[in-house]
Amino acid sequence: MNIAIIGTGYVGLVSGTCFAELGNDVICVDNNKEKIASLNKGVVPIYEPGLEELIRKNRRKNRLRFTSCIKEAVEKTKIIFIAVGTPPKLDGGADLRYIEQVSRDVARYMNNYKVVVEKSTVPVETNKWVKYIMRLNNHKIDFDVASNPEFLKEGSAISDFMNPDRVVLGVESERAKKLLLKLYKPLKAPIVVTNIQSAEIIKHASNSFLATKISFINSVANICEKVGADIEKVAEGMGLDKRIGSSFLNAGVGYGGSCFPKDVQAFVRIAERLGCRIDILKEVEKINKQQRKLIFSKIEKALWIINGKNIGVLGIAFKPNTDDIRSAPAIDIIKMLQGEGAKIRAYDPKAMEHAKKILPNVDFCKNSYDAARGADALVIMTEWDSFKKIDFAKMKKIMRHPIIIDARNMLDPKKMKKMGFNYTSVGRPGHEIL
Ligand SMILES: NC(=O)c1ccc[n+]([C@@H]2O[C@H](COP(=O)([O-])OP(=O)(O)OC[C@H]3O[C@@H](n4cnc5c(N)ncnc54)[C@H](O)[C@@H]3O)[C@@H](O)[C@H]2O)c1
Repeated sequence: MNIAIIGTGYVGLVSGTCFAELGNDVICVDNNKEKIASLNKGVVPIYEPGLEELIRKNRRKNRLRFTSCIKEAVEKTKIIFIAVGTPPKLDGGADLRYIEQVSRDVARYMNNYKVVVEKSTVPVETNKWVKYIMRLNNHKIDFDVASNPEFLKEGSAISDFMNPDRVVLGVESERAKKLLLKLYKPLKAPIVVTNIQSAEIIKHASNSFLATKISFINSVANICEKVGADIEKVAEGMGLDKRIGSSFLNAGVGYGGSCFPKDVQAFVRIAERLGCRIDILKEVEKINKQQRKLIFSKIEKALWIINGKNIGVLGIAFKPNTDDIRSAPAIDIIKMLQGEGAKIRAYDPKAMEHAKKILPNVDFCKNSYDAARGADALVIMTEWDSFKKIDFAKMKKIMRHPIIIDARNMLDPKKMKKMGFNYTSVGRPGHEIL
């Protein structure tokens, strides 16, 4: 099938490449000309495991092309996915200006019937606006709008796309339904077909629910800390209950990234606009912010005075296996520490190029040991696998004081204590500093 993906970011690039891998002819469009030029030279602008190889393979087979010419892409394809960003506005609502722009452009260049599919995460009823704008700009050509929210996770995006738990299709015509069912058939995944509003809500509700799980377990972790209970065992005991499930029950510094913070906020705002309330999510957000402060207070407790201290930070990406630093907890913590006068040396295996642009006063280091050199304390902010393999005996010799604040519960408290570290993490007993 002939497919266009408008917006070649984390979602657009992965989805486009995977659709090509499934044998479709895909044109990926972006208005960022540098990005397109770089992709056309074979340089992939984001880090996502396995993506570079898959792009290379599908370009070689002529199934995947990159362009900044939306006209050509619209004219040559039947199914057009919108995968542009929907960042938060100041009031927390979703900024839909890029969706509007693309809807207008697609309408203008439509030469025959098209299915325009919202893949970006959008508030419920966005489809009505997309239709409205498209009709305003083209009242001659027939088209359908559909919703197909994306559930891939950065860091495992290709396998998530190729083996999804489910595919959600919000459609309102048999024609659109048939085309999209045919497109997704090779994945052999469960497919939920529904109306467009339901599909839009499924995405916001799913992300909000996962964020709720994280804030819930963090609240429980704080109770554990007070009484000497162990949040890992509590989470294990809860998670084995199939009704609860073990994923997203990891206590730590709270959620970040380009999706959960903005989607939770946008869901609250759209509910309010519709005259409904979903106050539970306001509490979820509040708890998430408190977790950042909790980590900061643990560092403060370990160091007493932060001013003038050298602090090593391991990990900046909002989670392992990505270079994405949007709303990464590490950035908040680094800024809080700098605000108190700390000197920061940081290392991340993949995210430093992005981080350099927004954290000008940080010394970015060539490896973990370099970040820990002379440190009064080391803070673990992202649980990269490579950090688990660090030689902590060597680390201890390099650091000025053997103090570790583990914001991701990545290390074994008993082992760290035995090695002579003053070690603290979140919701685990027997190793509090002081
Ligand atoms: N990143 C994720 O893990 C993830 C997962 C599921 C859903 N989503 C949703 O998918 C959407 C895209 O997210 P992302 O992380 O890929 O964003 P991104 O910022 O990485 O990519 C968006 C791309 O759209 C391009 N763009 C903007 N306006 C354009 C226009 N008018 N024409 C052509 N291109 C244009 C930008 O240049 C950019 O390259 C968002 O709504 C997000 O919430 C993201």
